[in-house]
This record gives sequence, C-alpha cells and structure tokens, in this order.
Amino acid sequence: QAYNERESLYIVLGYARDFFVKNLQTEEGKAIGLSYFKERGFSQSIIEKFDLGYALDGWSHLHDAAKSDGHSNELLLKAGLILQKEGDPSRLYDRFRGRVTFTIHNLGGKPIGFGARILTQDKKQPKYINSPETDVYHKSDILYGIFQAKKSIREKDNCYLVEGYTDVISMHLAGIENVVASSGTSLTENQIKLIKRFSDNITVLYDGDAAGIKASLRGIDMILEGGLNVKAVVFPRGEDPDSYARKVGSQEFGEYLEKNAQDFISFKIGLYAEEVAKDPIKQANLIKEVVSSLAKIPDPIVRTVYIKKSASLLGLDEEIIQAELNKIHLKEK
Ligand code: UTP
Ligand code: MN
Ligand code: MN
Ligand code: MN
Ligand code: MN
Repeated sequence: QAYNERESLYIVLGYARDFFVKNLQTEEGKAIGLSYFKERGFSQSIIEKFDLGYALDGWSHLHDAAKSDGHSNELLLKAGLILQKEGDPSRLYDRFRGRVTFTIHNLGGKPIGFGARILTQDKKQPKYINSPETDVYHKSDILYGIFQAKKSIREKDNCYLVEGYTDVISMHLAGIENVVASSGTSLTENQIKLIKRFSDNITVLYDGDAAGIKASLRGIDMILEGGLNVKAVVFPRGEDPDSYARKVGSQEFGEYLEKNAQDFISFKIGLYAEEVAKDPIKQANLIKEVVSSLAKIPDPIVRTVYIKKSASLLGLDEEIIQAELNKIHLKEK
C-alpha cells in the first residue's frame, strides 16, 4: 500500500503515541511514569484524554519496536523520533528516553509531535525535550491543547492562553477546557489566527515570574495586532496556572480568573503602578507603554474605545493620548 509522505508521518507518529501510552502500563512505566502523573493529581481519564505516556529508559526501545513492525529508519528520522549519533550517523538512538510524554495533536486530533518531561531535578538536562520541526509539525502554526479545547473555546467565546503543557491539563481537571499553551515560545500570528477561528477573545495566563510578565506583554501586543480582544490575569509570584489551581482548588481557581482578568490597559498600569508611585516622572514611560499597545489596534472604533478608557484610567485628556498616538503613526510613515 502506497502512502504519501505526510500520511506516513501521521502513521509512525500514531505508532509512537500508542507505544508511549502502552508503556505506562509496564512495570517501569507504572513505577515511574504513572506514579509521577498521579502525584501531580492527573486522573486516568485525563491521561487518556491527552494521550499522556512514558518513554522507557534506554537507547532504542521505540526504535527496536518500530523497526520490527516495519517502520523505516528514514521515516523515524523524518518524524523526529530517533536521532543520528554525532560523528557516526549510522548509529541511531531514541530521542525520548526515561521521560513522561505529552502528545501534541493537530486540530483534527492526529499526533504530530511530543514533549517529554524529565522526572528528576537534574539541572544539567533540559526539563522538557520536544519534537523538532517536521513536515507535519510546524511549531509556529499550532497550539498545545487546541484539539481538546476548540469546542469549549467556541462555546465560551474565550480562549485562555497558558505557557505550559501541565497548565492546560490542570485547567481541564479544574473544569476549564477552553485553554491552549504556547509551549514556552513567543506567540505567532498564525497561532492567533488559529484561535480566531473559534473566538475573538483571548485571556493570557502566563506564569507569575519576570519571564511570564515579559511574555504576556509581547503576547498582548501580538493579539491586539491580530484584531482580537485581550485580557490578562497575573498570578502570585512563583505560581503558574497548574500550581495555583492545585493550591487553591478548582472552585477558587475559577473565581480567581473571573475576578482578576484585566484588560491590557489595566494590566500595564498595574505593572507600572509601583514605579509611578515612587517616581511620578515615570508616568511618562507608562503613557508611552500604553500608547504603544493602542497603536497596534487595527480597528479605529475599537482603538477609540480604548483611548477613552486609557485616558480615564491614567487621569489624562484623550487629546494627550491621541497626540502621542499620532507621533507613533507619523514615525511609521
Ligand atoms: P515551564 O518552565 O513554566 O514549565 O515552561 P511548566 O510547564 O510549568 O512545567 P512543570 O509544571 O514544571 O512540569 C513552560 C513550557 O515551556 C516549554 C514547555 O512547553 C513547558 O510546558 N519548555 C520549558 C520547554 O520546551 N523546554 C524546557 O526545558 C522548559
Ligand atoms: Mn509544510
Ligand atoms: Mn515558566
Ligand atoms: Mn510553568
Ligand atoms: Mn508548572
């Protein structure tokens, strides 16, 4: 039977998903992988819903199994499942070893890649190892969890955007299913277009640390540029949606999101409030920050609404904001 190349990739990636999922039921998988997931509070049904699995510890468990089931080295390499040894390309080894696995699905639910988490605190190894870009996995075009979230995003007419795999899963456990992850990379135009197929509203829930705040600011401007509405929630320092949901429980977590969702202007004002209080001259920086986001809003009517809101929140005349905006638009021309 002849398959084209993309179909072959889907087949071998499906094979790998099944292999990792089955590994969770082996002695090693139960003792290491399953117990890790249980410790994090992941239920059997969430494990199945997200195709969570375990990559056995060793150099060629997946490769050996796939080879004996007729999958070629060439295809396994193209799928990013095995690697060639540096300096000795005829030596092949499994990319994912001794880690729990998170299957990355495309919009239709087909597996296109994996993220794999380390189980120890070993600082010399990366926390997650991910599939590389392949012919079916374009990282800038997909969001983790979109397959499991799309129905709920449409129903709720809002999409929560988080950083990590486990944030998505913990929010599902807390009963919130309209959530996708950017997987620790900066948000792209195509990812925003993907969300826009289901809703025009995004709420950014990035980690409560300096990196998370920085990523929120970048993400917010990207979302505004895409013509969508954006809100942001700030988490207590050191918490991410997963840790916070487990800390306070589902009910309180949901309430926290409702109470703390701020539009981007209030979010920026909140970030700068401390600075401005200490040094009123810093208010000029804040105004410039807010105006730089306003300038990204393509729809003039939406922009006008936000200009009014900014003026009122900053205690300024609309004309001052408008004048700052004109400066930016002039610079662009
Ligand atoms: P985080 O460091 O916030 O991890 O990275 P996390 O999602 O909270 O994971 P846990 O709770 O410690 O298990 C956020 C996301 O960035 C990507 C992953 O997608 C991760 O979920 N990341 C992070 C990597 O790809 N590689 C890394 O080494 C670290
Ligand atoms: Mn392509
Ligand atoms: Mn983080
Ligand atoms: Mn995190
Ligand atoms: Mn986390």
